[in-house]
Amino acid sequence: MINRLMILPPIHLRRKEDAMKTLLVFASTHHGNTKKVVERMAQVLSADMADITRNSTPDLSGYDLVGLASGVYFNTLHKDIVRLAEQGRFLPGQRVFLADTCGVGYINYCAGVRKKLAGRGIPVLGCFQCRGYDTFGIWGRLGGIAKGHPSGKDLDRAASFARDVLEKAQAEKTDL
Ligand SMILES: Cc1cc2nc3c(=O)[nH]c(=O)nc-3n(C[C@H](O)[C@H](O)[C@H](O)COP(=O)(O)O)c2cc1C
Repeated sequence: MINRLMILPPIHLRRKEDAMKTLLVFASTHHGNTKKVVERMAQVLSADMADITRNSTPDLSGYDLVGLASGVYFNTLHKDIVRLAEQGRFLPGQRVFLADTCGVGYINYCAGVRKKLAGRGIPVLGCFQCRGYDTFGIWGRLGGIAKGHPSGKDLDRAASFARDVLEKAQAEKTDL
């Protein structure tokens, strides 16, 4: 069977009508770690960015693809991002992806929000996670953990993830 991805031209050669209008909504309150990831993804996706801690009700209309990104605070994503996942006005056909940065890297912190979105019938194309410099609580007194993260390698991985998500969203859009 021919997969749509196989017949789409490379991203830089796509027609204007194939372009995915993308918004990255983020919360990055500790060290700006997540913002670094979001900025790198925004370059790849030519995306608009919205800091949800400044405007708690970003307008999602007019976007094909919406990324929700957050630091991890007490085992979950920022409360405003969680609320957006629970109550945000996502449009039919809109695709969503998730990203987070965390001090401790071995737990999948996106899972809860992904489940909430799935429960609302909103498809999630993927979740990116990397570590981010953490000086919260006891870690601060010990000099912090995940120093130097997100690293250049983390950001390259974020860029590659963003390209994959774009490919998936574009393929699904042309399938509509
Ligand atoms: C209040 C607070 C709670 C945190 N809780 C967790 C946690 O439960 N698990 C974890 O892995 N990291 C935790 N962290 C570390 C942050 O998730 C990590 O440093 C992240 O990169 C911060 O992103 P930001 O700089 O974009 O805000 C916490 C940090 C803060 C400030």
